[in-house]
Amino acid sequence: MAKEKTTYVCSECGGTSPRWLGKCPACGAWNTLIEQAAAPAGGGAQNNRFGQSYAALAGSSELAVLAEIEAADVARTPTGIEELDRVLGGGIVAGGVTLIGGDPGIGKSTLLLQATDALQNAGQMALYVTGEESGAQVALRARRLGLERSQVQLMAEIQLEKILATLDTHRPAIAVIDSIQTIYSDQLTSAPGSVAQVRECAAHLTRFAKASGTAVVLVGHVTKEGALAGPRVLEHMVDTVLYFEGDTHSSFRLVRAIKNRFGAVNEIGVFAMTERGLRGVANPSAIFLSQHEQPVPGSVVLVTLEGTRPMLVEIQALVDDGGPSPRRLSVGLERDRLAMLLAVLHRHAGVACMDQDVFVNAVGGVRISEPAADLSVMLAIASSLRGKPLPKGFVAFGEVGLAGEVRPAPRGQERLREAAKLGFSIAVVPKANAPKKAMRELEGLTIHPVERVEQAIELLRSIDGDNRAP
Ligand SMILES: Nc1ncnc2c1ncn2[C@@H]1O[C@H](COP(=O)(O)OP(=O)(O)OP(=O)(O)O)[C@@H](O)[C@H]1O
Ligand SMILES: [Mg+2]
Repeated sequence: MAKEKTTYVCSECGGTSPRWLGKCPACGAWNTLIEQAAAPAGGGAQNNRFGQSYAALAGSSELAVLAEIEAADVARTPTGIEELDRVLGGGIVAGGVTLIGGDPGIGKSTLLLQATDALQNAGQMALYVTGEESGAQVALRARRLGLERSQVQLMAEIQLEKILATLDTHRPAIAVIDSIQTIYSDQLTSAPGSVAQVRECAAHLTRFAKASGTAVVLVGHVTKEGALAGPRVLEHMVDTVLYFEGDTHSSFRLVRAIKNRFGAVNEIGVFAMTERGLRGVANPSAIFLSQHEQPVPGSVVLVTLEGTRPMLVEIQALVDDGGPSPRRLSVGLERDRLAMLLAVLHRHAGVACMDQDVFVNAVGGVRISEPAADLSVMLAIASSLRGKPLPKGFVAFGEVGLAGEVRPAPRGQERLREAAKLGFSIAVVPKANAPKKAMRELEGLTIHPVERVEQAIELLRSIDGDNRAP
């Protein structure tokens, strides 16, 4: 049999080269050539030339009329871990592939060990492939989690072909690969963890999942920049992408769905890391509030809506004299958005931070991507700049546009109800989110509707009776 030859494909232009080169011979880009396994000899793409060789394949794939295909609803198996099922859209799906990413040590292996054990106890065969830790290490973790009698099948293996062979023999209901970066295929010469290996291994495992009905969960590492190590193409290949978030210094962890072919995205699961593993937090609305005895400048509570549940998150801002090139830093919020909000604050509300360092932080390591955070970020900045705290029990939400208009946030009523339930007393919200005039008070929560950002800043001044410009 002819030896299979590997080729190198440029990720920029798609050009190929028989050898690895630093520079793509076709487009001249540097470091873009990625190893790719060759198609098996005698078949594959190379032989397909218009007409003649396609003829041999005629009829090999059948056509079906869409209306005649039975629309089988996906069968979900709850993992028994409620918060995880919530992000998955009800449970694992047979043949579904899930990618779980997250910082080192955040709890990926812990959660998956707990989930596989629960599934195994529910009578589903669960197989855990560990490429990072030895069997003994996983057993040690199991003991700590109180799962010393776990019947989960464990395999310490990193070679893809062996893993696939084992999976094919046992056909488990769920297989966890911890992690995809440690697995390698001997069809490729590049090192485990390289883009080519990760992509190739994930593609094979995905194919296996679809063909066998085994639900596959891939664990992926996250780089320092916060992206999943390996190509983003992995996110396209799989059905569901979950990310672990949270500050490793606090015990709370969020699992967020950023893609789900079988359920809603942006649903989050909330956990607390305990000595005995991750425990679901059923009512997370108040966990991201820091406990100030007295209100402090630069702190505003945002009512954010994560999936189906509103949550209150403290937004902190610190505005301080900057050097010749003032810094803008944000943790948990987008930095580009911060720059935009500062420009809007200046232009429309006359709040100038040009010569100031501005730092913004969402408490508890939560990442907030919804624009409804805008108003609270701006109010926190204004409060820090003036050195005046907002009143006790103050909440805000609302998107702010470039023209200085305050736009409504989705499901405002729900957000307001949650704030009222938690005992907040003053809310500044977009006009369209405020209830009708007759009832501007909701269970002790006084609601101030605003249409423009300058109105919100003006309101701050009138609240504490200070009319000086910030
Ligand atoms: N005795 C303990 N008590 C409380 N928490 C613990 C204990 N032992 C470990 N942990 C927590 O478990 C975390 C490790 O979890 P885990 O190994 O599941 O993370 P991971 O995301 O799989 O990490 P990696 O990327 O290294 O594989 C630790 O960071 C710590 O927070
Ligand atoms: Mg791990």
